[in-house]
Amino acid sequence: MNFQLTEEHLMIQKAARDFAVSELLPGVIERDEKQQFPAEQIKKLGELGFLGMMVDPKYGGSGMDTVSYVLAMEEISKIDASASVVMSVNNSLVCWGLETFGNEEQKQKYLVPLAKGEVIGAFLLSEPEAGSDATSQRTTAIEDGDHYILNGTKNWITNGNSASTYLVIAQTHPEKGSKGINAFIVEKNSPGISIGAKENKLGIRGSDTHSVMFQDVKVPKANRIGEDGFGFKFAMKTLGGGRIGIASQALGIASGAYELALKYSKERKAFGKEICQHQAIQFKLADMATKIECSRLLCLKAAFQKDNHLDYTLASSMAKVFASETAMWVTTEAVQVHGGYGYVKEYHVERLMRDAKITQIYEGTSEVQRIVISRAILDNR
Ligand code: CAA
Repeated sequence: MNFQLTEEHLMIQKAARDFAVSELLPGVIERDEKQQFPAEQIKKLGELGFLGMMVDPKYGGSGMDTVSYVLAMEEISKIDASASVVMSVNNSLVCWGLETFGNEEQKQKYLVPLAKGEVIGAFLLSEPEAGSDATSQRTTAIEDGDHYILNGTKNWITNGNSASTYLVIAQTHPEKGSKGINAFIVEKNSPGISIGAKENKLGIRGSDTHSVMFQDVKVPKANRIGEDGFGFKFAMKTLGGGRIGIASQALGIASGAYELALKYSKERKAFGKEICQHQAIQFKLADMATKIECSRLLCLKAAFQKDNHLDYTLASSMAKVFASETAMWVTTEAVQVHGGYGYVKEYHVERLMRDAKITQIYEGTSEVQRIVISRAILDNR
């Protein structure tokens, strides 16, 4: 077993770190306050190949492995989790789903611009009454000649307003339950689509989260992904990889907060010495470093499984539940290490603490991950 990163991995890690420090750090506090989408920075991430990292170069991607994606996600998330969620959704939910299950025509038309970062995508599964219980889709897609007609509402859609390409999950044959669901590529400017107000969120405030409403939206049959009834499996398989992205985001949020706490503890003096000389702080730092390393290993293990075409459903859920709970714990402790300074915006850790919370909720709550893990253990699924 080799735990060493390759030269190429180290280069990608460094490129992501440099980008985060030079392009994302300036203005990150202001974007959070103003709920401003990092449009310019996302465009540059696309130009550098970070929005289609794992896509084959013949479809405009960077042709990298999932390990590289984990490393880049960690570095970007250390500084700006609002930017990294855009990166994660585009890479693992939209590009991966299209490259793996789309047909050649769909890939040429939709995947190429997404992988090049010329446009961004969104994944529309959640609904007002179908969050964790993803089979209970109310959005309908009814066949009508060469088209499907979509009606319904999707909730909590990351990139809801800034995306040009939507992957929409909808119910075609309600009597068939999960086997009656389909996935569609839908162009955001299609007649009948309206976008709700931007959600005013606790964290990842720069990201663009909206409801999306469909009223008699015509979608060509050619835009259905896979066989009739494949939509639920499409969503589950795609989310399996997506969870590696969100686990890596949580890892980055945790390691960003830890690095700030470590630095602060070496500068701040109390009771006659730097606070890192006090065992109360040393034990916090030791626990933070240990939990972060466990999260990193779980993320890299899931990435290794995916890159080597091994089942990664269990590994990605384990990585996500552990890394997201670690992120919440580490960021809270990082605020504590900073004392009062941790509670104000200039020191960044309060933002990281707010950003950490969503990693326990989206792409499957911690409870959903435990369902997936326990089923895998019990059913060997
Ligand atoms: N791979 C392939 N097939 C799978 C699968 C997987 N990982 N998981 C389930 N399936 C299949 C099952 O085998 C089953 O097929 P058969 O009937 O042929 O056996 C079918 O799908 C139905 O599966 P279940 O009976 O297990 O479904 P369930 O209703 O019990 O739900 C669940 C399982 C794990 C709770 C699932 O609903 C789930 O993952 N929910 C969470 C949804 C989620 O993550 N939402 C996030 C939205 S996207 C987002 O947040 C993006 C963003 O903006 C950042």
